[in-house]
Amino acid sequence: MTQLSDTELLQAARDAATRAYAPYSSFPVGAALVSADGTLYTGCNVENAAYGEAICAERNAVTTMIAAGSPPRLSAVAVVGLKAAPCWPCGACRQVLREFHCERVIVEDPDGNPVSLAFDDLLPNSFGPDALEGK
Ligand code: THU
Repeated sequence: MTQLSDTELLQAARDAATRAYAPYSSFPVGAALVSADGTLYTGCNVENAAYGEAICAERNAVTTMIAAGSPPRLSAVAVVGLKAAPCWPCGACRQVLREFHCERVIVEDPDGNPVSLAFDDLLPNSFGPDALEGK
């Protein structure tokens, strides 16, 4: 079980961003999330010469969480872009985070201070697994 402050989560995301493979965009991103059982998972963006095959930091963190056998639920994710603050999750990542019941997103403001937003404010009226119940 990991008890991390928002500042510590952002630091973990920043560390992950330093491992990004982003030779095409030169826009390294890191994500750090805490799963429902309190484990920390991180990810960075991984790009490709076929540009469209780039994978975002957030989705890499989520797939690492699932591959590790974690419960499919996360309480919070922090996102850091080394070249831009704040670095909000893209639309595709919001949808993937939605799947796993993300409750909160933490980014940095331009001064490096934590900003926390409820997930519903980031992706209101979202489509999720509940929509398929009883189909
Ligand atoms: N990127 C992320 O890793 N996460 C986001 O939410 C936004 C964009 C990456 C993808 C690409 O490698 C680079 O940032 C520029 O778009």
